Amino acid sequence: MQIFLDTADLDQIKEAARWGILDGATTNPTLVSKENLKFEDLIKKICKIVPGPVSVECVSTKSKDIIKEARGLAKLADNVVVKIPICVEGLKAIKVVSGEGIKVNTTLIFSPNQALLAAKAGARFVSPFVGRLDDISHQGMDLVDEIVTIFNNYGFETEVIVASIRHPLHVLETALMGADIATVPFAVLEKMVKHPLTDIGIENFLKDWSKVKR
Ligand code: G3P
Repeated sequence: MQIFLDTADLDQIKEAARWGILDGATTNPTLVSKENLKFEDLIKKICKIVPGPVSVECVSTKSKDIIKEARGLAKLADNVVVKIPICVEGLKAIKVVSGEGIKVNTTLIFSPNQALLAAKAGARFVSPFVGRLDDISHQGMDLVDEIVTIFNNYGFETEVIVASIRHPLHVLETALMGADIATVPFAVLEKMVKHPLTDIGIENFLKDWSKVKR
């Protein structure tokens, strides 16, 4: 399973890359708004650090504008993946730009049918938002399970990026369901490494090591 970092924070991306586990990154307008760099400079810097796909979101709403914006974003770096929200205008744009070889991550997926349509239009990735469904008392991971089943049923090559991840259990369930990618906030990545028994074990080993005759 691939792990992407869901952030536009350069320090977090550099740190995760040093851990040797980083496969890609996802950004969105909210995440880039938190950074103090010009948009295009920020994306180019992220793309240099990340050893894989970097999702960058289109903000246009009409298909012809989305297509133009997607073409521009794709030129920023070889590893840019263009994020397009699921909607009718988005589907039209996905069809055109995917046909030109631009990789698309269809975002804001909240139903399996939205994912099916995105895959049929040619999207390389779909991003179901599990945390936001949990927030309104729906089972976010059920959506992932259904999308994985549908894609397997019909042999779609579209990859599933589990997004809006809130905690390590979302990542665990992603792996157990066989979804392709989890895109995680840095705080979740840190929690994934930790276990209290590991901390206690290290502390005890260090204590005992200090008693060893050397
Ligand atoms: O990048 C898209 C998604 O992961 C956003 O998550 O926490 O804003 O629901 P969140």
